[in-house]
Amino acid sequence: MNTPHPSCSTPRRVWLDISLDTLRTNYRHIARAVSPCSVMAVLKANAYGLGVRPIAGALAHEGVAAFGVAEPHEAFALLDLGIPIHILGSVLPDEIPELVAVGVVLPVTDLDTARAVSREAVRQGRTATVHFKVDTGMGRLGMLIGEAAETIQAACRLPGLKANGIYTHFPVAYQTGSAFTREQIRRFTKLLDTLSASGLSFAQRHIANSDAVNNVPEACHPPFNLVRTGINLHGSFDTEGMRVLDLAPVLTLKTRLTAARTLPAGASIGYGLSYRLPQATRVGTISAGYADGLPLALSNRGHVLIRGVPCPILGRLSMDYTTVSLEQVPDAAVGDEVVCLGGEGPMAISVEDWAHLKNTHPYEIICSLGSRVERRYR
Ligand SMILES: Cc1ncc(COP(=O)(O)O)c(C=O)c1O
Repeated sequence: MNTPHPSCSTPRRVWLDISLDTLRTNYRHIARAVSPCSVMAVLKANAYGLGVRPIAGALAHEGVAAFGVAEPHEAFALLDLGIPIHILGSVLPDEIPELVAVGVVLPVTDLDTARAVSREAVRQGRTATVHFKVDTGMGRLGMLIGEAAETIQAACRLPGLKANGIYTHFPVAYQTGSAFTREQIRRFTKLLDTLSASGLSFAQRHIANSDAVNNVPEACHPPFNLVRTGINLHGSFDTEGMRVLDLAPVLTLKTRLTAARTLPAGASIGYGLSYRLPQATRVGTISAGYADGLPLALSNRGHVLIRGVPCPILGRLSMDYTTVSLEQVPDAAVGDEVVCLGGEGPMAISVEDWAHLKNTHPYEIICSLGSRVERRYR
């Protein structure tokens, strides 16, 4: 028989402070800006890695209209909150029965999917709520715009379906004034008109993501009446495009100083010997590395904050540790709190700063925060 492991009561070395108050304030800003559109919070991938339950709970208190997720497990995790849950991308045929049984709103991307959902709804004696997903240029999922009217008209004749919504998605909504985005809106709106002329209208019509809320105002006006927002809830923005909304970052990544010592002139730091001390230097080792989500690209470039003071990263950071200069904070001591991401004032470190250094976007930074990082909610 296995003996149970004792559990470790020592606090985690790396943690993410997540301000649910700030999240709620961000939500209110977004909701006000897009009103009278309602807001779907996109919480796929465990709320972009921040922890879906506390985030969803906070947004439920704010009266969010719906949750958007990627796949069935994510949907099931939110069922008890009593808010409509939409699978945004696709459903696989074998996923349909369980999703119909619990009333998740399903994307209809083609006629085969519509038929499969209809068959299952009829078999279960239920009505399945669906939203039609139209591909106007994302090239990822959904019925092609040219075929959409015919497909939707055929799907709407099937039994057991409540066709409650229709939507499409923007690939470049961060580009203000993009002709591509304008053309997507034009073609999608024309489709709505064609369907309306054939007697089909939909309670929810949506197209805007966070980028569009900031850069494409017409995507948040009639005929559209719902926006889908994810990254803005966390106070982050795409690195390109305008930032119209006044939002604040919700997360701070912290760790602790695990060594503080003076190394002699010429000492090398880290794998690859990419840094040598020009003179004897007070250095510290912090207990966080790329396994926690610090991009390797911070090596010899980024900084952390100790006692509010910027401490440059020296050498290549490793899986669990990163070496920093303590020259500007000589009193720093083992056990001190270290801010890796976040903080106050002009030297605060933003998700976007890391995204620039890594040559990526904020989504990848947030989603890469490590699994051993404790999520603490305030
Ligand atoms: C279909 C769809 N809508 C909306 C969003 C939300 O995007 P954002 O986090 O940029 O607001 C996503 C996320 O990628 C998505 O896939």
